[in-house]
Amino acid sequence: MELSGTAEAGKLLARARRPVVFTGAGMSAESGVPTFRDALTGLWEQFDAQALATPEAFRADPALVWGWYEWRRTAVRRAEPNPGHRAVAAIEARVPGTVVVTQNVDDLHERAGSAAPVHLHGSLFAPRCSACAHPAPVPDGVAEPGEGRPLTPPRCGRCDAPVRPGVVWFGEALPEQAFEAAVEAAYRCDVLLTVGTSGLVYPAAEIPQVAARLGATVIQINPEETPLDAVCELNLHGPAAHVLPALVRAAWGDAAPA
Ligand code: OAD
Repeated sequence: MELSGTAEAGKLLARARRPVVFTGAGMSAESGVPTFRDALTGLWEQFDAQALATPEAFRADPALVWGWYEWRRTAVRRAEPNPGHRAVAAIEARVPGTVVVTQNVDDLHERAGSAAPVHLHGSLFAPRCSACAHPAPVPDGVAEPGEGRPLTPPRCGRCDAPVRPGVVWFGEALPEQAFEAAVEAAYRCDVLLTVGTSGLVYPAAEIPQVAARLGATVIQINPEETPLDAVCELNLHGPAAHVLPALVRAAWGDAAPA
């Protein structure tokens, strides 16, 4: 990580009035939640996305898909927010105009104190009916599925169709309200922090690009290069759990909540 970059980014953040924090799987990596595309550890390196993360996959084998997402939900429930999540909440506490937009389906931003993160890709904690979309209760006390072990999904209390995970699958539209809120935040923001995302999945990856096109300062926090490098004014190469607290300290000093 370049220390001078953090100091400069801190100055920009301290002046921001409408910052957006745009996060991806790398945000939760240090909480022990695997990313999707990191070599060796990424979920899509180990599992077949077509067989687990499409509407066709759920129709073909609902138990396989439900069991895999229940395994992920159980893992997230055991994970804890990391100092990066807490630093994001600290930015919100400092700058009331902050909007947090996440591609993550975990609840670690909320548990770190972020008030209402915009979930572009849904949530592991919002199952719904696969036919009538009626919200379904989050299962409690179910036998813990092993990695990828099939588990029959519950039935909808209203129409008896199988309940599905409340996440966005490949080939599906993003939740309309969330996408509109994210685009509006990108239009209005003065500084956008893009944290822990490969920037490969659209339309989510449009958010930092829209902000950059409209003149916002885009700052990236990621140990690796990404296609978003091209629109970033500053690249802080390091892990989110380390760089974000350093950024908050650079912006507001040691008294900053982090
Ligand atoms: P990816 O797995 O594509 O990218 C994760 C990014 O995080 C990479 O650029 C890593 O270099 C970076 N990274 C890894 N560890 C990090 C750390 N400790 N701190 C900061 N960055 C770190 O994940 P996303 O970009 O979130 O979609 O993927 C986007 C979407 O693709 C996901 O929301 C998911 C997936 O298919 C759905 O589930 C709909």
